[in-house]
Amino acid sequence: MNKGRPFRAALPYCAGPSRGQGRIVWQEVTAVLEKVELAGGLPGPHRPEIPGGETTRRERDVADSVTTIGFVGCGGIGMHHLKIWQQIEQARVVAVCDIIPERAQKAADMMGARPYTDMAEMLRSEQFDAVDICTPSGLHAQQGIMAMEAGRHVLVEKPIDIDLVKIDRLIELADKTGLKLACIFQYRFSPQIQKANQLIREGKLGRIISCSTYVKWWRAQEYYSADAWRGTYALDGGVLGNQGIHSLDQLTWMAGPVAEVEYAHLDTIERQIEAETFAIAVVRFESGARGVIEATTNCYPGMPTRTQIFGTKGSAEFDGHTVVKFSVLGEEIDLQTQEEGQETDGRSDPMAIGLAGHHAQMLDFVLAIQEDRPVLCDGRSARVPVECLNKIYRKAGVKQKIGT
Ligand SMILES: NC(=O)c1ccc[n+]([C@@H]2O[C@H](COP(=O)([O-])OP(=O)(O)OC[C@H]3O[C@@H](n4cnc5c(N)ncnc54)[C@H](O)[C@@H]3O)[C@@H](O)[C@H]2O)c1
Repeated sequence: MNKGRPFRAALPYCAGPSRGQGRIVWQEVTAVLEKVELAGGLPGPHRPEIPGGETTRRERDVADSVTTIGFVGCGGIGMHHLKIWQQIEQARVVAVCDIIPERAQKAADMMGARPYTDMAEMLRSEQFDAVDICTPSGLHAQQGIMAMEAGRHVLVEKPIDIDLVKIDRLIELADKTGLKLACIFQYRFSPQIQKANQLIREGKLGRIISCSTYVKWWRAQEYYSADAWRGTYALDGGVLGNQGIHSLDQLTWMAGPVAEVEYAHLDTIERQIEAETFAIAVVRFESGARGVIEATTNCYPGMPTRTQIFGTKGSAEFDGHTVVKFSVLGEEIDLQTQEEGQETDGRSDPMAIGLAGHHAQMLDFVLAIQEDRPVLCDGRSARVPVECLNKIYRKAGVKQKIGT
């Protein structure tokens, strides 16, 4: 039985911690959400100093209250981003880039923007405030650094990258320049998930004993064969680095960072790729809680994702952006739980995902620039699940160099 509203496919009720894992307080999140809800009545934009002093652009954009975007990576998720940018009136995509000219042209036609096949050339030739990066994961940090060195704010798809050394360089640059750095983790941008996270952090479940996640999804060989970067350690990772990273993020965002991976087993089953299609790990969190991480793309046709947290006073269960259960001993808690989330997490089809979380997060990014306030999912926060991923890879004996 559906006991609450579904995750609306509309706008914007985002929330999430901005300063590391959960260090923002609930009132702050609510205040930011209200501003996102009221978007349109906000003060004029705060602009980064762009090398070369482009006064005309700055004056024009301040007058318009529009944040201009240079877009990179017009593939699967990239085209979803572009559709969302079309709906965000506080932003305008002025230039698009893809190494495949036809993709760049198609996106340019769709957005009324200028097409590029070289990101460096786009940065040199165009005046815009921020870069949105939707390229293969192993390019994210390097392209983010390039954008920031050119004075642009950066929004990047998940994961922020898979190499911790490059991620740290990017975060350092964001700190140094004061430019915004945001990474898409759309599960966080659901009000039920936000509230559940806050309650867990307030201790409603008591002392947390166990935090586990089970990601049983399906990807056929054709999915991997279609793009050379998929399933490689250098550009993607396997199920943990690509599909499972959402759940590693949810788990570590709610339960805190993983201190140690006590056991890890990775396997590549019936797929011609370098990285894992099946992973099991046993982890110990910094809090002392233990957990199991199980992820696969071998499970036909794809099952609901389960993230489960239990403590001495209660338990919680999540399916992506949906709260399935939140029970506290002796207390009624109304979190608008649902028995099972809608199939909008890409468990069977990578493009069958709900876009409400993306929409909210992209709007948050733009408003953070315009208000000069922190984004709700920043670089440091997005690094935590990648650190967990790297610890699992190391424990499993993956020899390739993936981060540190
Ligand atoms: N948040 C989500 O739910 C979600 C869903 C899907 C993908 N993603 C992430 O988005 C990223 C892209 O995934 P995808 O499935 O859209 O991949 P994709 O292969 O469909 O698209 C990537 C695009 O980047 C282009 N590209 C590659 N190198 C480039 C370069 N140097 N400069 C410019 N363009 C370049 C490719 O030509 C391609 O068009 C990945 O990091 C993935 O993890 C996130």
